[in-house]
Amino acid sequence: MPERAIIVRVMRYKPGIIDPPRFENHEIVIDEERTVLDCLETIRTNLDTSILFRHSCHHASCGTCAMIINGVERLACITKIGYIEGNVIALEPLRGFPPAGDLVRNMNGFFNYYPEPYNYIRHSEMLPPAAPLLEIKEFLRFENCIECGACVSACPVTDKKGDFMGPASLAAIGRELEKSPERSDELIALAGGERGERLCERALRCSKVCPMGVYPAMHIENLRKKRINA
Ligand code: SF4
Ligand code: FES
Repeated sequence: MPERAIIVRVMRYKPGIIDPPRFENHEIVIDEERTVLDCLETIRTNLDTSILFRHSCHHASCGTCAMIINGVERLACITKIGYIEGNVIALEPLRGFPPAGDLVRNMNGFFNYYPEPYNYIRHSEMLPPAAPLLEIKEFLRFENCIECGACVSACPVTDKKGDFMGPASLAAIGRELEKSPERSDELIALAGGERGERLCERALRCSKVCPMGVYPAMHIENLRKKRINA
């Protein structure tokens, strides 16, 4: 793939030092096969060691690299430069969470919203001709949700109504209901509580930005129908 000269605009914020937040620009040349996360690592290695951002897996599994890329919530590790229009990439931290610094948000609140204890492991879909290795009976996989927070950031209600438990938590309740229908009374009551699905305004942005196809809005709608028909 060809290389491209790009300007990476990084929203900087360090309480008391870079305060209020502001964009800082860096010009780099990078292969179009590379990702936004590669851009950030190039900048940190060669131009500015002080930039804060989160990442771990580099392959859309850990959810830590979610950020707003040119106005849309995405995973930096799988957003390739070749798919971005223009030569400017603006990077901002997720909305709806307290700032920690630069592109990092404090995600504690997100995990506090999750109902627990729930079993988040399920069987893996296995497309032929894939088969388990001889010594393995079957594959297990975690739920699709990687707790990236993109849906919460994109949701127009989470900022406005701070009590809303948010699309990811409601999707988790919806999945739990699919797996454990015998617990429907408890789960529908949880989803239908004061902080639950009744606060959702059906913007559907959660489903649009979810990188894993969890479709939180679908779960929210299903939960709403079940509550109304209960
Ligand atoms: S539902 Fe999708 S967007 Fe929301 S936290 Fe899970 S993976 Fe991320
Ligand atoms: S680094 Fe793990 S999802 Fe992007």
